Amino acid sequence: WTATRDKNCKLPMPKGSMGFPIIGETCHWLVQGAGFHASRRQKYGNVFKTHLLGRPVIRVTGAENVRKVLMGEHSLVSVDWPQSTSTLLGPNSLANSIGDIHRKKRKIFAKIFSHEALESYLPKIQQVIQETLRVWSSNPNPINVYRESQHLSFQMALRVLLGFRISDEEMHFLFHTFQEFVDNVFSLPIDLPFSGYRKGIRARDTLQKAIEKAIREKPLCTQGKDYADALDMLLESAKENGTELSMQELKESTIELIFAAFATTASASTSLVMQLLRHPAVLEKLREELRNCGLLHDGCLCQGELRLDSICSLKYLDCVIKEVLRLYAPVSGGYRTAMQTFELDGVQIPKGWGVMYSIRDTHDTSAVFKDVAAFDPDRFSAERSEDREGRFHYLPFGGGVRSCLGKQLAMLFLKLLAVELAGGSRFELATRTFPRLVSVPVVHPTDGLKVKFFGLD
Ligand code: HEM
Repeated sequence: WTATRDKNCKLPMPKGSMGFPIIGETCHWLVQGAGFHASRRQKYGNVFKTHLLGRPVIRVTGAENVRKVLMGEHSLVSVDWPQSTSTLLGPNSLANSIGDIHRKKRKIFAKIFSHEALESYLPKIQQVIQETLRVWSSNPNPINVYRESQHLSFQMALRVLLGFRISDEEMHFLFHTFQEFVDNVFSLPIDLPFSGYRKGIRARDTLQKAIEKAIREKPLCTQGKDYADALDMLLESAKENGTELSMQELKESTIELIFAAFATTASASTSLVMQLLRHPAVLEKLREELRNCGLLHDGCLCQGELRLDSICSLKYLDCVIKEVLRLYAPVSGGYRTAMQTFELDGVQIPKGWGVMYSIRDTHDTSAVFKDVAAFDPDRFSAERSEDREGRFHYLPFGGGVRSCLGKQLAMLFLKLLAVELAGGSRFELATRTFPRLVSVPVVHPTDGLKVKFFGLD
């Protein structure tokens, strides 16, 4: 497809710079991270053009502009990931499907994120988090929180969501292969030996082989509603919707689910730990809420069974997680292609151009948030609810027909982690200052965030 203006449209093209041939501004973006978009937005406005990951793209910021893009899915725009991401996730993935096929796949997937499903994952997630925090606390050395959180979210995806019963050795191997996959999922689509793209393809093939083996060895449990895990539900849900999933579809869905959960949840978990360290008053207020509702007693978390409803009733906890996701939105935005030429903010978005809507920049520039750069969970309290001014000012999970399917699961995981951190752990920063953050592929601290965890006395 060509990256030229639509001559039939009188509107001007967005301002911006296209960088060098082929690589465009990819290197600037990788080096500057979040600063790349911020500097261009200041120079060219909320809708500007650039050239990233082998394609020209128009970057879109601001609630009203983003609303138009997200609500225009299937009419104005259609999902279109960079070529590397699209190839690595595969043709059967949800990310690559459009129109009716996308709607049908989403319906099948929805079952694994239902209230009933979340209730069944809860004790298993809690157990994985408690075990992880015990291991962190027994380590005499500081923990690299981002790296270990990746491990934690990988375990959550593999053991809780997918029900894989694999050895620690296999888990270790899959984790490293998956990291290689994620590291190269946004790469220039140049298939040469030693290119990132080739490494990504190799990692994907290895993962698919291992996953096929794990699926074949996994005991299936599809009796009535007594599901063992999400894969069982996925197979059952497909049947209910009159279809069977092939092994290739299952493998691609599995990789897609782990991919969607892995880096995003690890990024948010790290940001949560960092904010609790930076703001002891917030941590104390969380503890107070746990005490008030009987979950924290004499400095210890009550080990009784936590229910989804009791977690959902913790209002301040909800505000804290929302604020972490506002200030440190793990996903910076989403990729689309214009299906027809349309107007946005007074400029033309020509048919065929890539469009990337921005989440983090929209949060950072939204006028509805008072003192936008401050970490202030109470902005989401019932009295203030600053996000009530239209939902596209706050969109860590995207919006419209492609909004995050795993949103409730991610929120549950982060809330359970916060409860365990506030009620069952002591932790302190192991470096003199807080690290700098980088934003590619997701927000994370440059040094991973070094923290010393202690067991409770
Ligand atoms: C889509 C964010 C965790 C599954 C998305 C999108 C965002 C997002 C922004 C929309 C992308 C777009 O518009 O193109 C997040 C964040 C998470 C998180 C911030 C954690 C804090 C999860 C988890 C899962 C998941 C745990 C499942 C295990 C999905 C899926 C889609 C998606 C399947 C694709 C939906 C579609 O194309 O219809 N996520 N996500 N996410 N997410 Fe999440």
